[in-house]
Amino acid sequence: MASLSKKPLFNQFIPSLVFFLLIIIILQLVSSSTAYVSSITSPFVYTNGMAKAVEERKEAEALLKWKTSLHIKSQSLLSSWVGSNPCNWVRINCDKSGSITHLNLSTYDLRGTLQNLNFQSFSNLLSLDLSSNSLYGTIPSNISNIFKLSVLDLSNNQFTGFIPSSLGNLSNLNILYLSKNQLFGFIPPSLGNLSNLNILCIAENPLSGFIPQELGMLSSLNYLDLPLNNLTGAIPASLGNLSNLLYLSLFKNQLSSSIPQELGMLSSLSSLSLDSNNLTGTIPASLGNLSNLVTLFLYENQLSGSIPQELGMLSSLSSFDLSSNNLTGVIPTSLGNLMSLTLLSLFMNQLSGFIPSSLGNLTKLANFELFLNQLSGPIHFEVNNLTQLKSLELSDNQLTGHLPEIVCHGRISPKLGEATQLHVLDLSSNHLDGEIPKELDIPQQLGDLKTLERLNLSHNVLSGSIPSTFDQMLSLISIDLSYNQLEGPLPNTKAFREAPIEAFRNNKGLCGNATGLKACSSAISHNHHAKKRNKVMKLILILSGIVFLIFIVVGITLFVCLRKKEIKIKPKEADYQNMFAIWSYDGKMVYENIIDATEDFDDKHCIAVGGYGNVYKVELPTGQVVAVKKLHPLLEDSVVNLKAFTSEIRSLTEIRHRNIVKLHGFCSHSRHLLLVYEFLEGGSLEIILKNDELALDFDWVKRVNVVKGVASALSYMHHNCSYPIIHRDISSKNVLLDSEYEAHVSDFGTARIMSSDTSYWTLFAGTFGYTAPEHAYTMAVSEKCDVYSFGVVTLEVVMGRHPGDLISSFLSPSFASLSYDVLLEDILDQRLAHPTNQVEGKVILVLKIALACLHTNPQSRPTMRQVSQKLSNWKSPFTKPLHMITLRELIDLDNFN
Ligand SMILES: *[C@@H]1O[C@H](CO)[C@@H](O)[C@H](O)[C@H]1NC(C)=O
Ligand SMILES: *[C@@H]1O[C@H](CO)[C@@H](O)[C@H](O)[C@H]1NC(C)=O
Ligand SMILES: *[C@@H]1O[C@H](CO)[C@@H](O)[C@H](O)[C@H]1NC(C)=O
Repeated sequence: MASLSKKPLFNQFIPSLVFFLLIIIILQLVSSSTAYVSSITSPFVYTNGMAKAVEERKEAEALLKWKTSLHIKSQSLLSSWVGSNPCNWVRINCDKSGSITHLNLSTYDLRGTLQNLNFQSFSNLLSLDLSSNSLYGTIPSNISNIFKLSVLDLSNNQFTGFIPSSLGNLSNLNILYLSKNQLFGFIPPSLGNLSNLNILCIAENPLSGFIPQELGMLSSLNYLDLPLNNLTGAIPASLGNLSNLLYLSLFKNQLSSSIPQELGMLSSLSSLSLDSNNLTGTIPASLGNLSNLVTLFLYENQLSGSIPQELGMLSSLSSFDLSSNNLTGVIPTSLGNLMSLTLLSLFMNQLSGFIPSSLGNLTKLANFELFLNQLSGPIHFEVNNLTQLKSLELSDNQLTGHLPEIVCHGRISPKLGEATQLHVLDLSSNHLDGEIPKELDIPQQLGDLKTLERLNLSHNVLSGSIPSTFDQMLSLISIDLSYNQLEGPLPNTKAFREAPIEAFRNNKGLCGNATGLKACSSAISHNHHAKKRNKVMKLILILSGIVFLIFIVVGITLFVCLRKKEIKIKPKEADYQNMFAIWSYDGKMVYENIIDATEDFDDKHCIAVGGYGNVYKVELPTGQVVAVKKLHPLLEDSVVNLKAFTSEIRSLTEIRHRNIVKLHGFCSHSRHLLLVYEFLEGGSLEIILKNDELALDFDWVKRVNVVKGVASALSYMHHNCSYPIIHRDISSKNVLLDSEYEAHVSDFGTARIMSSDTSYWTLFAGTFGYTAPEHAYTMAVSEKCDVYSFGVVTLEVVMGRHPGDLISSFLSPSFASLSYDVLLEDILDQRLAHPTNQVEGKVILVLKIALACLHTNPQSRPTMRQVSQKLSNWKSPFTKPLHMITLRELIDLDNFN
């Protein structure tokens, strides 16, 4: 019965179910056909529009949700992002149907994460550029839902974590930039699936692990850029399959093993940079097939074997650097075929044999660096044609030959004078002999090398005297003639006067004004009789010398015999340990010497206390006196910045300007960070102005000259360096004077170095009373902040005291009008008599410039270049005498011209 009772129910149920299913299927068919038809026939446009509106709303909602997740300030930057039509918002492009195709928020000062951005909503997005912001957190793996994406740029942010392997699903991707983030872990092998990828840049991250061999499948790739990571292992041979590759850069990683010879198949390659890794083995000869190669950088590895002859086939090569490897053998003659070469750098290897004469064909060569090898023989290549040479560095080899022939008559020779760009000529530490050519009298020769800055002929066997034509080498900054057989007087030029004694030591008999050298006696005279008399005198001297020597030898022998043996404590040698590094021209200034000389930084050696740290006067065992600035110790985590710090300092040590305190180098140690500066005996402007006696000596001529010097230094650093270097802390403390009252600005670049460590940032907001007013409300630092501080220092020099009250009265409207009516003569340093004659006009000009520099609006202040030019012309703005001029009249001449 039970079954009977169930049956009717069952019988009713089945047909109704079938009916129901049929209805669903029919409905389904109808709806899909409408959807299909809707896109081609008008009656359904309304339905389509609705779908688009839904789409737009989805995109708008996703962006607004993300916007509210950003930091408050970033939200205000996106204030146009309101409502429901994102196509009207900034930085967004849509297609005709109103769907977002491009979202470009590069350099928009955004701060926040991507966790709240619903990528799924952007079904038509082709390009997403969020580069150069402060975005952080991980890169969400669902970013791969933007399946049409062609360009993804997240570079220069603070993204961290792994690179999501889902990126390998973005099959339409052409460009992927992830450089300059904090991404760690491995490069996902899935990226090898991006068969349309043209550009892959993941430079400057702490990525580790191997370079996945799957990258060799990126058949469209033009540009592979993975330098400055921590990648290990071998370079995969599969990269040789990237037949469209133009650029391959893997420098500064930890890559090891040998260079795969398959790289020689990259026939389109124009740049190959594998430098600064741990690559070993030989350089594959197959690289000679890269006929489009312009740059080949393999330096700072451990490559061994010889330089393949085949590299001479790289006919497009312009920069060729194999320096700092373990290469042996000879320099192949074939390198003379590289006619486009501008840089040839093979230094620090173990290359031997002669320098091939074919290198004389490389007429475009600007930098020619073969130092620190075992090259021998005479320099017998034709350097006649190398008119573009900027630097010729052949030092530390075993080259032989006669210097005059090399430099003058011979091969480097008559035309070297036409190398009008030569800055560096370093032939030191060879076995060159002969005199420094007299022909240098002749301006067409070396003396005509007007651009020469560094000449190093030390450690040779040169003899004779130094020709006086060095006068004409006006740009000469550094000279080193030590360890030769030279004699006679030093030429009286700045480079010689300012050279350290080390530059001349161990010669036969140099004399002159330089400290540490004996003064030239009248014996060195061109008078014939005197010469004869000299010979007699010399003979007598030699004879008495010998007698004297015998006495001394006998004396010492007796003395030594009579005394017990004593253990002599050797002075501490310069020992270079990893924990510190130092650059200096004589390399002898070391940490321990500094500690010894200052008795571990005892206060009694402290000569100044500054914002960055205390300054100590240090006399080194060589007799040289330097100023050592002990900076606040670096924090643990700033060790990461040491590299940046080091290169920054290295560039600062290269700055040479007569009004800038020379930075010799630095020592970094776990306990201390020391900057080693030139020592200036005159003290700071602050000290001189505060001392009545010193201030009296500091007359008007000296004062305007100091102002001019400071302006010149600032102008140079703001406008003549490769990037503007802002001081940030110009004050009378930082302007030092030498014994001639010439100004030298100290601490240039320190702010920049220290600001890489954020903990210093707030410490160095400048010195109170010198900082520009805008500094109070914006942290943005520009050159104009220095201009303002220069204005304060200038007034201080003229007034003899800090002009704080005068400046603050300018700022307060009720006092301003009163202070503007002050007579110039009333603000001058009353300790000095009023300036007269020409210097009166100069003082007026200096005051006018100072007031222009103090303009509250940074834009209205002059640039340091303008200031410096004005101070070179000394055109006084007034014909009136000083005692009739008020400040107002100077300010009213409001245009700076
Ligand atoms: C690089 O890798 C080495 C060894 O794998 C590790 O010791 C070092 O800390 C890494 N450096 C960075 C910056 O990640
Ligand atoms: C490179 O040469 C240096 C010094 O000659 C040596 O210590 C080092 O072991 C060499 N390295 C290789 C990989 O040959
Ligand atoms: C000149 O060269 C020698 C040896 O190559 C080096 O020790 C010295 O520091 C150099 N001098 C200068 C001023 O660079």
